[in-house]
Amino acid sequence: MGVCCGMVQESLSLGISKPTDNASVNFVKYKGDYYVSTETNYMHRVDPDTLESKQKVDWSKFIAVNGATAHPHFDPDGTAYNMGNSYRNKGAFYNIIRVPPERDGPEDTLEGAKILCSIAPRDKSKPSYYHSFGMSENYVVFIEQPIKMDLFKIVTGRLRGKSLNEGVYWDPNQETIFHLIDKQTGKEMPVKYYTKALSTFHQINAFEQDGFLMLDMCCSDDGQSINNFLIQNLRQSGETLDEMYNTMSRPFPRRFVLPLNITSETPLGQNLNTRPESTATAVCRNKNQVFCTFEDLHGEDLKDYGGLEFPHINYARYNTRPYRYYYGCGFRHLVGDSLIKMDLESKTFKVWRQPDLYPSEPVFILSPNAAEEDDGVILSVIITPVKDKSTFLLVLDAKTFEELGRAEVPVNIPYGFHGVFNSSA
Ligand SMILES: [Fe+2]
Repeated sequence: MGVCCGMVQESLSLGISKPTDNASVNFVKYKGDYYVSTETNYMHRVDPDTLESKQKVDWSKFIAVNGATAHPHFDPDGTAYNMGNSYRNKGAFYNIIRVPPERDGPEDTLEGAKILCSIAPRDKSKPSYYHSFGMSENYVVFIEQPIKMDLFKIVTGRLRGKSLNEGVYWDPNQETIFHLIDKQTGKEMPVKYYTKALSTFHQINAFEQDGFLMLDMCCSDDGQSINNFLIQNLRQSGETLDEMYNTMSRPFPRRFVLPLNITSETPLGQNLNTRPESTATAVCRNKNQVFCTFEDLHGEDLKDYGGLEFPHINYARYNTRPYRYYYGCGFRHLVGDSLIKMDLESKTFKVWRQPDLYPSEPVFILSPNAAEEDDGVILSVIITPVKDKSTFLLVLDAKTFEELGRAEVPVNIPYGFHGVFNSSA
């Protein structure tokens, strides 16, 4: 699927080389202001009415990080959480960042941002790449996946004129580690949760219930596909491109169930997941390690749509809470070719798909006075590669997945996973 295009399109940056300020990944909100963002230390504050870039904002002027993800999370009061790496003498650290909701003045940007917690990688010279993270009511969940960045190779590769991907590799022999950080205290939980090697780019939701933390995310069994997104591969077309794509592991929505109350009394070697109808497992290996397996958040029929990525939920009301629906793109091709609405109660889904139309991620917009979780509309930018200048914004009824209308734009908009932004400043 195309999510690993994220490695190409979403401009992974270590902050070691000159970081890009082409904030083309996502739009985000801090303290009520709109920004366009990538994964480097630069964002642009934009005027939401004119879309004019008003100010280039540098994370590293406020806190000691070399960048931040384009996928922050928000508490209901507007407090934002994000993650970014820092590089010190002894190697890399993963940092959890908190940005307060209050503005102190009209020019206020990231003032008051703080590092809530620094986490040492399993190997400080080879930290994991991450594109986003999870958040429940009380915890930030950092997923340390075995897509690794060999810092020495990357730095020396730059000097030798080599591309970044020479230092980024998939290590299937390493387990994935889930780190839980208490949002109130900033302390990392001593218990770590492990699962087999997986790669993930986007989380769906995370919530706590009955002493468990449910972590829902789109993940693949193989992170090797990052190496398929080389420009020489992307320049292929037709059968060659299909062949490359068909070898890739597809992303599927999965749930991990993490037991929160692990003590020295917790029995070892037993499945601790007592949630009814959940096939996920969580087994204590020792007092600080729980090994987990996942539960599918879909039926077999999703495989016909190539898996699912770019998940969205009714974030305003259901992030960090038990929920029923998520939305995403199906990926039978290198880019999304369908929109999907999944019902977690029945694990059945509705689909919007039309020939030669390729949608971006579905964004859920809540109806005014909405009473139900899916009371709203879905927005998606549709590109039309076989028809000139006929891109449009699609509007679907989120409940029925029926089309409500199209806002046509007579230009050729390039494909963008989270949207398309141009920032020039
Ligand atoms: Fe993303």
